[in-house]
Amino acid sequence: MRRVGRSAEERRAELVELYKELHAEHGCPLRATRTNLVFGMGNADADLMFVGEAPGRDEDLQGKPFVGRAGRLLDELMGEVGIERSQVFIANILMCRPPNNRDPLPEEIEECTPYLMRKIGLIRPKMICTLGNFATKTLTGSPMGITKVCGRPQKRELAGLDLTIYPLFHPAAALRSTGCLNDLREHMRRIPGLLEELSTPPDAPEPEPVGAAPTSAPAASQLDLFG
Ligand code: URA
Repeated sequence: MRRVGRSAEERRAELVELYKELHAEHGCPLRATRTNLVFGMGNADADLMFVGEAPGRDEDLQGKPFVGRAGRLLDELMGEVGIERSQVFIANILMCRPPNNRDPLPEEIEECTPYLMRKIGLIRPKMICTLGNFATKTLTGSPMGITKVCGRPQKRELAGLDLTIYPLFHPAAALRSTGCLNDLREHMRRIPGLLEELSTPPDAPEPEPVGAAPTSAPAASQLDLFG
């Protein structure tokens, strides 16, 4: 039930409005202890999103997701499969850093999840890679932990869209364990193929004739939105 209608430019403008709205007013209980709200960044018309848990220290200081050690590993692994940060949108379940990087609390997840859903509804990705347990459980709506489901794509309806959730180990876990790193690397190798399959469903309608107005190609100005 992929929604059509609004152009990529219109959806991007709404995403920018949401960004401004949240910077002005965000009722998260963590507002008092965070430095910066980390909205997420990347291509506002991305086919692929990555969703992590919550900002850490570096992210809190810079206001950008995955810019510390775990982020550098994520960049490296994306690079190995030919994906650049500018092509994807990266966000977290929580937009504010929990003190001392403690686990997110249920009330914090409840406060932030509706905003994540609005982002997903505006970006309209085909696939979301959930990084680690919290993102995976929150977006699949299932209590199955990451070790059971990592590397297994699952169909879900989120934000009014039919999309694929692809659970992966969190890069921070991969920094601590070679086994996790090997699994994460192997699972990430499948991303380009999965995206390709999702771009050409068996019952896909005929492509638009050449010359029709483009509906999904990202404008150059979108490529580092919020970056
Ligand atoms: N870990 C996360 O889950 N998100 C970040 O942005 C950084 C580290």
